Amino acid sequence: MSKPLFISIEGGDGAGKGTQIRLLSKWLQAQQIDYILTREPGGCPSAEVLRKLVVEGEDDDWDGVSELLLYSAARREHLRKTVLPALKSGTWVISDRFADSTTVYQGVGRGVDAEQVNQIHDLVVGENWPDLTLILDIDPTVGIGRSKANVHADGQVNQETRFENLDLSFHEKVREGFIRIAKKNRGRCVLINADDTPENVHLNIIKELEKRVEIYPA
Ligand code: TYD
Repeated sequence: MSKPLFISIEGGDGAGKGTQIRLLSKWLQAQQIDYILTREPGGCPSAEVLRKLVVEGEDDDWDGVSELLLYSAARREHLRKTVLPALKSGTWVISDRFADSTTVYQGVGRGVDAEQVNQIHDLVVGENWPDLTLILDIDPTVGIGRSKANVHADGQVNQETRFENLDLSFHEKVREGFIRIAKKNRGRCVLINADDTPENVHLNIIKELEKRVEIYPA
């Protein structure tokens, strides 16, 4: 049996993560790979409670340090209750965001000291980093324009606008932060150009995945 992969998908607001996760799901089904889709913040009942606290509400409800601790507590439970048990049972895990989002949003975006963010990651994530992190890269003026529509592809209205409401320079910092992470972690992270058709972005993701699947042949 091949080793199940833990894959996280990252990117700025409006990068098209949702669409790509749907296309990736279809591909995994076609390959008859057992997988779960999960997300951060959230991914297990206790972490979903924390999600509601951090993603709804006003911009100044939490400062950067409070956010770091809330997202990290949610991640700890997500790992313990969902991610690690799935991997142990041979199931792939696809997570919509993971710890790199904290490095970028709370570290770079909110200005929390990078060393302190890393210390929390060591405590919370330890050795359990994803095998592959796909970072969807897009110019924030394009990405924010997409998510400002505030309506998902399925017609559901987006209630979670706390981050989308922050100014453009915040989103530019976020983009730069993700690019830096991709450069620093070349073994784990891949930067994917998200300013393209959904089909082309998907094809690039699958190319990256196939490189990893060769590493773990069935
Ligand atoms: P998400 O549901 O992925 O929303 P979006 O569709 O906007 O990408 O994530 C919700 C918000 O939570 C998103 O704006 C980024 C933020 N976030 C952090 O600030 N830190 C974190 O550690 C995580 C996981 C998310």
